Amino acid sequence: MTDLPPSDLAARLERARDRVARAAEVAPRVGLILGSGLGAFAETLADAAVVPYTDIPGWPVATVQGHAGRLVLGRCGSLPVAVMQGRVHLYEGYAPWQVAFPTRVLRLLGCRALVVTNAAGAIRPEFTPGELMLITDHLNLQGANPCAGPNLEALGPRFFDMTHAYHPPYLEAARMAAFERELTLREGVYAGLLGPSYETPAEIRMLRTLGADAVGMSTVPEVIAANHAGMRVVGISCLTNMAAGVLERPLDHEEVMQTAARVRDDLIGLVTSLLAGIAEIEGWRREAPA
Ligand code: HPA
Repeated sequence: MTDLPPSDLAARLERARDRVARAAEVAPRVGLILGSGLGAFAETLADAAVVPYTDIPGWPVATVQGHAGRLVLGRCGSLPVAVMQGRVHLYEGYAPWQVAFPTRVLRLLGCRALVVTNAAGAIRPEFTPGELMLITDHLNLQGANPCAGPNLEALGPRFFDMTHAYHPPYLEAARMAAFERELTLREGVYAGLLGPSYETPAEIRMLRTLGADAVGMSTVPEVIAANHAGMRVVGISCLTNMAAGVLERPLDHEEVMQTAARVRDDLIGLVTSLLAGIAEIEGWRREAPA
């Protein structure tokens, strides 16, 4: 198997953590990974400190349009958070351990919770582009796992449970947040594929048979690494388009970006309320010491 992590991965993670910690006034409690066109949430943070990915040793740098490529540390209300504006994908050529590198650094910085967002194609015909979907579970169809290779015992165990990969109390908090904001929040299973080609209609029929409700090219490696490291995860897909073959017309990356931009404010509102819910659940009403 290729793409295995380097033997000094733990040291590399620590170097990256040390660089980011210099910029952080307080240790972040929650890490957020924001997908294509969904990074605007970071602009709402108080007392923000920005660290470009290129300043963090070992941190993979996004190559896709729509991904800003910076880590923003700040507060959402009183909750200290670290927001990744942009992420890398396996289809860019990064190894699974590289895609998961930032998630692990977030954990080392002190994040116990992870909020992930992504753009996804809707497989269920009753879903509509522009709606948000709470990820209740995922299918790893990327043929890769970021925890393959020697286990990092300091981070987590060799074999780890994925029964509640998406933390049930956080799912409930997301439902409450959507109710509060009067937003429709669909729910379903996210199928993570390698990409970068969009799927064929036959593949979408296959995914539907397998139990997928939405499809995308991200999220799965980060969520696996987060679970390995004992983080509690919640994920929201922005349904940017109907998946291939659901409608007659072809898919277009431009449409994906435009829909993501259109629902920006809905997503920012939902994430803001969700973070308040997570802080409530965890009793993180006050700032954590750095
Ligand atoms: N397929 C895969 N990834 C995606 C899609 C899709 O239809 N839309 C946004 N990301």
